[in-house]
Amino acid sequence: MNRLCLLLLAAALSLAGCTSVSLDPPAMMTSVAVAPTVIAKLSTPTALQASTEKMEQGVVVYRSQYCGVCHRLTAAETTGEFGPSHDGLAWTAQARLMDPGYVGHATTPTDYLHESIVAPDLYFVEGYELSSHHMPSYVHLQPQEIEAIVYLLAHQR
Ligand code: HEC
Repeated sequence: MNRLCLLLLAAALSLAGCTSVSLDPPAMMTSVAVAPTVIAKLSTPTALQASTEKMEQGVVVYRSQYCGVCHRLTAAETTGEFGPSHDGLAWTAQARLMDPGYVGHATTPTDYLHESIVAPDLYFVEGYELSSHHMPSYVHLQPQEIEAIVYLLAHQR
């Protein structure tokens, strides 16, 4: 009788242990030695909220400046075709920097996006050099407006 009780107790304890591991993602992550900063980023709701908010701000500016007249960006529901598509621009920006024909000053994708917006004449995407729908500079926008668009575009994967 006593042994059965002990067995049941042991089973209950191990079940309790399992439940707490599977319901608690940070604990699981710690057990596979993920850096604490990564866990903080993944599990802090405010961090996620902030980025969604920034993306939304970017969409608002993007649409209010009519970037979509010339550019396709699914996230902003625009389908312009006078300029290159902005879908997947996080990858495209990296590819531009590696293009031997790239003559701008940017060294990171984010810098490239910023440069494309404030100084579009510095470098033309191949095939658009002779376009009759040249991109105007948006250097007159508020810095936080430019930052919001860059954030949005830098996250298009
Ligand atoms: C009149 C049409 C037009 C408008 C409006 C326009 N663009 Fe462009 N954009 C272009 C063209 C054409 C290119 C390709 C030539 C070049 O690189 O400058 C381009 C290139 C770009 C690039 C580089 C893309 C790549 O594939 O490397 C970015 C980033 C960009 N535009 C962002 C914007 C943003 C943000 C806005 C709004 C604030 C905007 N554009 C408004 C025509 C436009």
